Amino acid sequence: METQTIRETDITLHERVAFGATCEVYKASWRSPNGEELKVAAKKIPIRGDTELTEQLNIEVNILSRVNHRNVIKYYGHAVTPTHVIIVTEFASKGSLFDYLKKQKSLPAKLLRKWAVEAARGIQHLKNLQIVHRDIKSPNFLITEDNTLKVCDFGISKDAEATQSTQSDKGTMSWLAPEVYMEGKLSPKADVYSLGIVLWELCTCEKPFKGMMPQHVMFKVSSERYRPEISTDCPLQLKMLIEECWQQDRRKRPGIDEVVSRLERFGVYLCILFFDVDLTCNVLIFFLYFMFIIFFMTPPIHHVRSLLDCNWSMICWVHLIVT
Ligand SMILES: Nc1ncnc2c1ncn2[C@@H]1O[C@H](COP(=O)(O)OP(=O)(O)O)[C@@H](O)[C@H]1O
Ligand SMILES: [Mg+2]
Repeated sequence: METQTIRETDITLHERVAFGATCEVYKASWRSPNGEELKVAAKKIPIRGDTELTEQLNIEVNILSRVNHRNVIKYYGHAVTPTHVIIVTEFASKGSLFDYLKKQKSLPAKLLRKWAVEAARGIQHLKNLQIVHRDIKSPNFLITEDNTLKVCDFGISKDAEATQSTQSDKGTMSWLAPEVYMEGKLSPKADVYSLGIVLWELCTCEKPFKGMMPQHVMFKVSSERYRPEISTDCPLQLKMLIEECWQQDRRKRPGIDEVVSRLERFGVYLCILFFDVDLTCNVLIFFLYFMFIIFFMTPPIHHVRSLLDCNWSMICWVHLIVT
């Protein structure tokens, strides 16, 4: 797919929703080619004649134009002005996952499960396109109006063939795999490590390595294999997966396909352990219904049985189908 250049005059900026590291993000409207007025996000990045920045922006829009998945932010196009590049994407009205988690004590089990799977699926889609995100962290996951989690910010992403990382493009320390800053080694397994930290955030609603300086995190993680503490409330299977994802040796980390299928599989288990309200209600209703059948429906069944004089299991089946 081609990167899509759009006219600056078709974009109307409204309120600013965030300051990024090198940009400002606005809620905006964009008049699309078919005349439709869309609610979008506009990421406004100043170009200061910096060739590395311009090159990276090209990579960012190039990657955005290739992705197409419900767990990756949707790209509409970009406008180039003499002073700025404005990247236009779908608007995620509930902001970043990081900001959302800051306001929570814990997540309902259903939401934890949903977002864990969605985060992993977004990264899986990137891996399928041979893209290493390299800056997977909760501030780079966005939540849309319908509570869907989407990965964003391809500011330092690279094609998977690029196996070396440079000084200037290192992601945020708390989420970064140690081999990236120690040896400059880059692979899809670096994203799996960062996902492990994001899964931990979903479980705890806390900031990883809170209160620690980046250099301290770097030293402790790489030399002492230090990791955030996983609370005892965390279901065992999820705890094990998180620990595998943030293994020091990247070869011991599971691939993203395995992470997705394991998260999908133990979703129900998670719900039960966290006493998910919906699920508990369903189980209770089913139980009451079962008791109702046992106590009130059994005599008629006997009655029908004697009338028809047919086989007991067949009557049970008919009864089940009818009810
Ligand atoms: N599409 C969007 N909808 C809503 N908020 C967004 C959107 N894109 C970015 N943001 C907000 O802006 C912040 C920074 O955006 P990001 O693309 O990560 O820029 P940076 O490269 O500076 O980190 C995000 O953490 C989020 O809070
Ligand atoms: Mg970002």
